[in-house]
Amino acid sequence: MAKVKKAYFCKSCGYEAPKWMGRCPSCGEWNSFTEEIIAKESGSVAASIVRLPSSQPQRVRDIRENTVERLDTGNAEVNRVLGGGLVRGSLVLLGGEPGIGKSTLSLQIALSANGLRTLYVSGEESAEQIKIRANRIGVGNDECLIYTETLLENIVAQIEELRPDLVVIDSIQTIYTDLIDSSAGSVSQIRECAATLLKYAKTTSTSIFIIGHITKDGTIAGPKVLEHIVDVVLQFEGDNNNVYRILRGNKNRFGATFEIGVFEMADSGLRDVANPSEILLTHYDSPLSGIAVGAAVDGIRPYLIEVQALVGNAAYGTPQRTATGFDSKRMSMLLAVLEKRVGMKMFSKDVFLNFAGGFRVADPGLDLAIVAAIVSSYYDRPLTEGVCCAGEIGLSGEVRPAPRTEQRISEAARLGFRRIVVSGYAAKALKKPRGIEVVYINGIEQLPRALFVEE
Ligand code: TYD
Ligand code: MG
Repeated sequence: MAKVKKAYFCKSCGYEAPKWMGRCPSCGEWNSFTEEIIAKESGSVAASIVRLPSSQPQRVRDIRENTVERLDTGNAEVNRVLGGGLVRGSLVLLGGEPGIGKSTLSLQIALSANGLRTLYVSGEESAEQIKIRANRIGVGNDECLIYTETLLENIVAQIEELRPDLVVIDSIQTIYTDLIDSSAGSVSQIRECAATLLKYAKTTSTSIFIIGHITKDGTIAGPKVLEHIVDVVLQFEGDNNNVYRILRGNKNRFGATFEIGVFEMADSGLRDVANPSEILLTHYDSPLSGIAVGAAVDGIRPYLIEVQALVGNAAYGTPQRTATGFDSKRMSMLLAVLEKRVGMKMFSKDVFLNFAGGFRVADPGLDLAIVAAIVSSYYDRPLTEGVCCAGEIGLSGEVRPAPRTEQRISEAARLGFRRIVVSGYAAKALKKPRGIEVVYINGIEQLPRALFVEE
């Protein structure tokens, strides 16, 4: 009888072991091992090592540089996140929560990449379902082929025959190879399929987009090895209740990481938002208290965002503090600083905080805007019109320069803001900006005066 070959895999990093272990010796994760059947017959285990064409050691100066060829995906925001287009032969991993729009985005790319032959492989939806989606998006590229298949060997055979420029695999968790007997979506299947796709991407110069689902804790389901072998890791994020989506480059071997692309989910697919500030700022008829505008930077892209705060008297002993889209620990820290340095009685106040558009923000340069919104709501007094802020706040109440302050200032000036409050410690390094008044403050206690200006 054929012997069943089993192995244990770490779900976090893909480490393989012959027996179960409580803690992974490779990544240190606890309770991450799962049993998987690799092969029912000995000898059919695939070699996970990708064999690229053999080469000889050579000096750096002797290496001939081929300028990387970049393909136009037909989508300006995607091109920007990829660093100026999709590099031929690159492997891109696109991760995101279910329903966020990964399939929509990749189908849109496949349909808008004019002049490229694209192959959209779906293991999740039928051809009819994809047709309905394509109708909503609008069919552009006639050279886009839809292929519903889950067996890797068939997919690879089609890639070899059709020689497409771009292949989309939707999703890596649904495809499987015959060489391994464990079920689709298991660590060994994902690892093997990704390795095979990598080999084909590199040897046939086909660019491959791999879609990967995300687990609850925010990592791409499947082993970390997936992130190691691909050239680019893109993360598609956003609030399911909101229409805005952010495409973030977490790793990019061919360009700057930390680029972001912003999209709006519309009836006819995803729409590029070239100017995020436009959607993140609301124009009110009359000024309202509790609203401040922060000049933020995400990656290298500056934008202005509206911060809303509500400060009210706490009805119960323990005040409520709720921050949506922002780290609530950081908010508590800012409240403690306000209490101690400005003397505001925050201990008896409920504080609620959120950002326009359901955005999640981690930029410490928004501290000043957050505090400004809180101060405005506390005194129930609207800020002077046309004021925005950019600065980080330290524990002693000092206002520190936010990274890329200059870009934040020019973005604010571009959008017609008349005055921006920044850290005085940044004054020396800054060129004199045009068209906007810059107010320098060194401590948080100077903030109220800068915010409420009698005109
Ligand atoms: P989908 O791409 O299926 O998500 P994922 O592949 O990440 O699971 O996105 C599905 C959502 O997008 C669904 O809730 C409907 C919405 N949607 C639109 O709002 N407009 C559209 O044109 C399309 C195609 C989808
Ligand atoms: Mg999908």
